[in-house]
Formats: sequence, C-alpha cells, structure tokens
Amino acid sequence: MEFPNPAKLHNQHVSLFAILSIATIVPNPAFATKECVFPAIFNFGDSNSDTGGLAASLIAPTPPYGETYFHRPAGRFSDGRLVIDFIAKSFGLPYLSAYLDSLGTNFSHGANFATSASTIRLPTSIIPQGGFSPFYLDIQYTQFRDFKSRTQFIRHQGGVFASLMPKEEYFDKALYTFDIGQNDLGAGFFGNLTVQQVNATVPDIVNAFSKNIKDIYDLGARSFWIHNTGPIGCLPYILANFLSAERDAYGCAKTYNDIAQYFNHKLKEVVVQLRKDLPLAAITYVDIYSVKYSLFSHPKKYGFKLPLVACCGYGGEYNYSGSVGCGENIEGNGTEIFVGSCGRPSARVNWDGIHYTEAASKFIFDQISTGAFSETAIPLNMACHRSYTKSY
Ligand SMILES: *[C@@H]1O[C@H](CO)[C@@H](O)[C@H](O)[C@H]1NC(C)=O
Ligand SMILES: *[C@@H]1O[C@H](CO)[C@@H](O)[C@H](O)[C@H]1NC(C)=O
Ligand SMILES: *[C@@H]1O[C@H](CO)[C@@H](O)[C@H](O)[C@H]1NC(C)=O
Ligand SMILES: *[C@@H]1O[C@H](CO)[C@@H](O)[C@H](O)[C@H]1NC(C)=O
Ligand SMILES: *[C@@H]1O[C@H](CO)[C@@H](O)[C@H](O)[C@H]1NC(C)=O
Repeated sequence: MEFPNPAKLHNQHVSLFAILSIATIVPNPAFATKECVFPAIFNFGDSNSDTGGLAASLIAPTPPYGETYFHRPAGRFSDGRLVIDFIAKSFGLPYLSAYLDSLGTNFSHGANFATSASTIRLPTSIIPQGGFSPFYLDIQYTQFRDFKSRTQFIRHQGGVFASLMPKEEYFDKALYTFDIGQNDLGAGFFGNLTVQQVNATVPDIVNAFSKNIKDIYDLGARSFWIHNTGPIGCLPYILANFLSAERDAYGCAKTYNDIAQYFNHKLKEVVVQLRKDLPLAAITYVDIYSVKYSLFSHPKKYGFKLPLVACCGYGGEYNYSGSVGCGENIEGNGTEIFVGSCGRPSARVNWDGIHYTEAASKFIFDQISTGAFSETAIPLNMACHRSYTKSY
C-alpha cells in the first residue's frame, strides 16, 4: 500500500537502491534501511499501557496483581508486564515511569502519561464518583507539554534531579506510542446509549485522537506507533454484562466487536490523513485487534485456554462480576472469600475480566514487533521511517 510521502528525496533514494539490488540480485545489507535508535519512549493511553499512573493518583492494584513478574502489585492492571514494557525492553530501555508517580521515578529515557480508565474524549463520570480517569487524552497531552519544558528547566538547573530527566534531543528522536479508545466505547456501552448510538460517536472520538497527535507533533514528536483498539466484545466485562448480546463463532459479542472494528476503520482513515498533514512524521498504525482476536479464535494453537474466562475474578460463565473484582473480598454467609489468581495465568489470555495476562501481552508484542500487523509493514525497530527496504 502506498502513502503520500513528502520526503521525496528519501523515497527516491530508497527505490533507486531497491532497483539496483533487484538488478544485481546480490543481497547487500548496505541498501537496507537503518534500524531506528530511540533513546526514549513517551506513551499515552489507558490500562492497556498504564505502568503506574492510576495507581499513583487514584486507585492502586492490590495482590494478586503483579504476581507473575514483579511479585508485587506494580501499578499495572495485569499479573505482570504489558505490551509497552516489552516494547521498552526490546530497545534496551528501562520500563517507563508513570508521569504521575512522585516516588522513585526516573524519566531519563521516557515517561508514561497513560492512566487506566482513560478515554480520548472528556469523560462524563470520573473516579471516585464514576468509572473513568480524569486524565483523558487532552490532559495527557497537557502533561506531556509541561513535562517537556519543566524537565529541561530541571536539567539546566543541575543538581540531583537533572540526571533523571530526558535530554532535550531525545524529544524528537523518541518513539511516541498510543493505545487508547477502548474506554470511549466502554463508556458508551455502560452508559445510557444503544450500541448504534455508541457507533455514531466513533467519528468524534477518532477526531479528538487526531487532534492530540497533531498537538504532540507540534511539540516535536516525529515517530508515532499507534495501536488500534482490541476486540472489546471478547472481554468478560462485556460478555458478563450483556449476556443476551449475539455471539460469534468463538463466543465473543459480535456487535461490540463490530463497533471496535468501525472505530479501527475510522482510526486508520485519520492516520492516513495525518500522514498527509504531518510531513515529517512517521506514523505506524498497528492492528492489535487482529492479534488479540487470534487469541480468542485459536487459543490452543498459541498455548492458551479458556480465553473468555477471567483468571482472577468471581462468578458465572466468565468468572467475572462487576461488583467484586480481582484482589477484593466477597463477604457472605459470615465468611470472606478472596478473589485471587487461577494459579496459572501463563496459560490464560484474560487476567481480571478487562485486562490481558502478561503471557498474552508477550504474545501480542512478539506478533506486532515484526511489522506483520503494521499497516505499512513497518517493524517496531523501523518505526522512525515512513517506508523502508528490508535487508535480504
Ligand atoms: C535512571 O535510569 C537510567 C537508565 O536506566 C540509569 O542509567 C540511571 O542510573 C538512573 N538514575 C538513577 C538515579 O537511578
Ligand atoms: C436513558 O434512556 C432512556 C431511554 O432512552 C431515557 O428515558 C432516560 O431519560 C435516559 N436517562 C438518562 C439519565 O439519560
Ligand atoms: C456503525 O456505523 C457505520 C457507519 O455508519 C456503519 O457502516 C456500521 O454498520 C455501523 N455498525 C454498527 C454495528 O452499527
Ligand atoms: C453462600 O451460601 C450459598 C448457599 O450455600 C452459596 O450458594 C453462595 O455462593 C454463598 N455465597 C458466598 C459469597 O460464598
Ligand atoms: C476464577 O477466579 C477465582 C478467584 O476468585 C480463581 O480461583 C479461579 O481459578 C478462576 N477460575 C478460572 C476458571 O480461571
């Protein structure tokens, strides 16, 4: 698939090389596009990539969250690491500190502005009165803008904090990652809207997303790695709440997934437009939906079982209850029951009814990093390029 490429010189350069290498049929790695060096990662999103933002500000996960990797709750709504952790690790970068975390944070190689329960649009109900994070995408952008200027002020001041701040040149060299949108759909489904009404809000949601990408670009960001939204209709929190919703062949709630796919269709459209509008940006759209869906359609093939059932939850066919969550106690009959782990989250897709296990996140990372799910076939380590030539 071709995309308008204003970096014409670069492009001609690449295609000339491509022609030469085909003509000579001599594999020559010198013609291959260079791997990107990302000295930092700045991430924006929701619980799919929150490494401690909500935990530091409003609600911290309790045991058994974190049991698999960190062996303690580590601000992530999972048993272990998230896709963003595997992304950071793959570049030899430290796991991202949450911007909102005031304890022990180190932003020398990036920062994470994501908070669990974040939406793209202004949420109508916020924690603790409602279900959503006040740190929706516009706020995450504002925080990033302030972060950029304040960290440079601190670096110039010197002293103990200077080395914990990113270098100025990291901001345009960094990878900017995004995984957000699921809660905008969820807010609609759990609000007083029909699924058709939720569907109708999608264009407005993706436009709000696009505006933030432009604003972040205007602050100097150049390499964007954008995850689309996953199959929300395969998650226990949807399945258990909408028991009569039509199921597909794998037991997922079909219409809910249709709306996620419509969101992704519109998201892809805005990304194509952004590539035209932002000539210096490399924007990679990553089809997380398809990777996640394969965990529900072919769990055994990838070493998983019971993909529609929460490992840590309570009640019903999906082991999920909206009123008692993972890590909480159920009071009843004069006794308390602890909602704990199923014991082998490594064989499971869903951790707590909403979030994926570390094992699933690792699988997702392995699939997307190759470029096989990037709309432009760009692998993760080439995400600073608008297009690239492989080495053979
Ligand atoms: C901050 O993180 C960097 C990269 O991991 C590390 O080299 C540095 O020592 C850390 N600084 C402190 C004070 O821990
Ligand atoms: C919810 O929807 C129903 C039916 O459309 C309507 O009568 C009611 O006023 C709505 N409630 C709120 C709080 O919007
Ligand atoms: C969502 O809206 C789009 C555009 O109007 C439409 O094509 C699609 O069928 C709708 N999906 C659902 C599930 O209503
Ligand atoms: C309480 O006891 C009833 C009957 O034995 C049982 O069905 C129910 O699951 C119990 N409730 C809890 C929270 O254990
Ligand atoms: C459901 O959650 C409970 C914790 O409340 C856990 O012990 C159990 O193993 C889970 N069931 C399945 C099938 O994962």
